[in-house]
Amino acid sequence: MGKISQAIDNGYTAVFREVLGSLLGAAESNFGQIFKNSFSAHRDEVTITTKAGYDMWGGVYGDQNGSRKYLIASVDQSLKRLGLDYVDIFYHHVPDPNTPIEETAVALDHIVKSGKALYVGISNYNSKQTTEIGKIFKELHTPFVVNQVPYSMLERWIEKDGLLDFAKQEGFGLVAFSPLGKGLLTDKYLKGIPADSRIGKGNPFLKPDVLTTELVDTLNALNNIALERGQTLAQMALSWVLKDSIVASVLIGASRPEQITENIATLEKPLSSEHIEKIESLLQKIAK
Ligand SMILES: NC(=O)c1ccc[n+]([C@@H]2O[C@H](COP(=O)([O-])OP(=O)(O)OC[C@H]3O[C@@H](n4cnc5c(N)ncnc54)[C@H](OP(=O)(O)O)[C@@H]3O)[C@@H](O)[C@H]2O)c1
Repeated sequence: MGKISQAIDNGYTAVFREVLGSLLGAAESNFGQIFKNSFSAHRDEVTITTKAGYDMWGGVYGDQNGSRKYLIASVDQSLKRLGLDYVDIFYHHVPDPNTPIEETAVALDHIVKSGKALYVGISNYNSKQTTEIGKIFKELHTPFVVNQVPYSMLERWIEKDGLLDFAKQEGFGLVAFSPLGKGLLTDKYLKGIPADSRIGKGNPFLKPDVLTTELVDTLNALNNIALERGQTLAQMALSWVLKDSIVASVLIGASRPEQITENIATLEKPLSSEHIEKIESLLQKIAK
């Protein structure tokens, strides 16, 4: 087995660090360089966020993902790479079963109170976990504002689990990641698997067997609705995620700049209730 697939199978262990060590934090370093060169005059016009929670450095503390030691070291390292004094939102990436939730909450609160972040976010917390940590944030008066979760026409656990309603009730926002189902909710897989797509390139997190006949038929039917609306399927999938105002933002991935241009144009065409109903009746057919 190759080192990268071995690392992925082991869940980001030491092998991953050995292979990709020099790349960990590279997104922040690249951003920091570009921001410094071209955008630093606009710092007060933008929201800059980062997160910590997965394996990042060697020794026993680099993967203690919710501990005070790990979180405070993480924000310090991130600020250095970003070249910033503070971030707008600092997220905890994933709940840590090995650290008491109070420790994680108090560490995030400390990060805000020490001026390294303006607000706190969490990510991949279900409604029960959000309730638990949210209670501590309330006691501490921590400015907790957002939970970043997967949400798309194809991945809707936040509806079933009650997180979507809980966010509305409590007034925190949701940021949807993988809103295009990692590329499935675009027009690229309607007639096969293009070689330059994630599946075509053998991405271990998106395998060809996901493309069942049932799914491909539904994607084609969704694509017809998108065309009727004068949109691409990617744009309609993003409009669908943004139909609920509790979704504060969508976090898209892109393999080329044109995809970003196409996706941003989504904002011009919100979904009508008639199209929401049509889409829902198609999605019900593939709901598990
Ligand atoms: N908080 C977390 O735990 C967590 C977990 C996962 C991801 N995230 C964040 O969420 C971001 C997005 O995740 P994702 O990349 O999985 O989600 P995604 O937005 O659902 O999928 C992105 C992929 O869709 C394809 N695509 C995008 N726009 C397209 C267009 N207009 N036309 C055709 N294809 C298009 C591209 O794939 P091709 O390569 O096939 O062109 C692109 O790489 C990540 O970058 C990451 O920052 C967060």
